[in-house]
Amino acid sequence: MQLYFLYLLYFICRKCEARSSIFQIRYFKTSVACRNEVITVKTPAFAESVTEGDVRWEKAVGDSVKEDEVVCEIETDKTSVQVPSPAAGVIEELLVPDGEKVEGGQALFKLRKGAVAAQAAEAPAAAVVAAPPPPHDAATTPSPAPSAVGPIPTTMPPVPPVPGAAIFVKMNRMRLRIAQRLKEAQNTCAMLTTFNEVDMSNISELRKAYKDAFLKKHNIKLGFMSAFVKASAYALMEQPAVNGVIDDTTKEIVYRDYVDISVAVATPKGLVVPVIRGVEGMNFADIEKTINELGEKARKNELAVEDMDGGTFTISNGGVFGSMFGTPIINPPQSAILGMHGIFERPVAIEGKVEIRPMMYVALTYDHRLIDGREAVTFLRKIKTVVEDPRVLLLDM
Ligand SMILES: *[C@@H]1O[C@H](CO)[C@@H](O)[C@H](O)[C@H]1NC(C)=O
Repeated sequence: MQLYFLYLLYFICRKCEARSSIFQIRYFKTSVACRNEVITVKTPAFAESVTEGDVRWEKAVGDSVKEDEVVCEIETDKTSVQVPSPAAGVIEELLVPDGEKVEGGQALFKLRKGAVAAQAAEAPAAAVVAAPPPPHDAATTPSPAPSAVGPIPTTMPPVPPVPGAAIFVKMNRMRLRIAQRLKEAQNTCAMLTTFNEVDMSNISELRKAYKDAFLKKHNIKLGFMSAFVKASAYALMEQPAVNGVIDDTTKEIVYRDYVDISVAVATPKGLVVPVIRGVEGMNFADIEKTINELGEKARKNELAVEDMDGGTFTISNGGVFGSMFGTPIINPPQSAILGMHGIFERPVAIEGKVEIRPMMYVALTYDHRLIDGREAVTFLRKIKTVVEDPRVLLLDM
């Protein structure tokens, strides 16, 4: 718990830092008497656990930018950090080549404030010229746009990649780090997976009955994820080993009296695992809201490193892609991960009769060095019990 407060404090301090840097930028803006002043923009400070990243430029020399428009992205091991322009102007010089490594505080690019690029001013007129539909054969033979009145090019255009040939793409830092962590888990943990299946009839009915009222009151959709997150928190408090971790350096087992659940979210750059903190004290609405906020941040590529630090357990939902069955890999330094899957109608035996029920397979991969089979199986059965009959939560059984 103490750690948690320290974390909070650290977070608040970081917020203050961010605010003071905004203040500095504003100060620059208001103090400028002459226009066309050139300023050097530096790499922002990263979070503590990150020291460097690779630059990917979104703008080129001569491009006009608005205030706060993203000029480049810096891919760190955990996320990408967007670098906005502190003011409107024109990019004068890029001080780091594309793909190159930068550290916090390093000079990134020069910006001529207030200026407007020549091409940018001509662009609207050019667009009008280009607007009429091209002659009928233009579709098959692409010709330069009629508006291209610039100098005749003296170099050959770049050769397009030959279809079918192997292409070599540099692994971005996030992909590298994901690869490294997954192998680390396989090399360190004694991983084992146990399975169960969940009858989703009751929770589906509950959702159907209350989804409109829930949406109206909380302004958020009621999904199945909250039930599994809540059930996991419940089961983790009962089986502390699943929520604990082996500290390999001190040969100690670290148990936690709080539950922070990482939720795996797929993004175009790779899998990210933002953390829902203090789940043991949350209700369904809190959980749905938090998942929604984190998912939104992930889609907009705005997740900060702090959003992904320090989970004690992970839930991965392969069901969103229609997976029936799979074995997840532990997200280190954790000791277990729950895999949710798709809900499919299947015949099941209920009191000696075959019935069709909406069923989901669930999997728990765990580190057998720390967690025994009995604990893992009991843990997964608890999740099954809670999701199948959510009244269990209400009565704290
Ligand atoms: C669904 O809830 C009912 C009570 O409403 C309970 O009797 C039943 O066992 C639950 N279904 C499952 C599959 O657990």
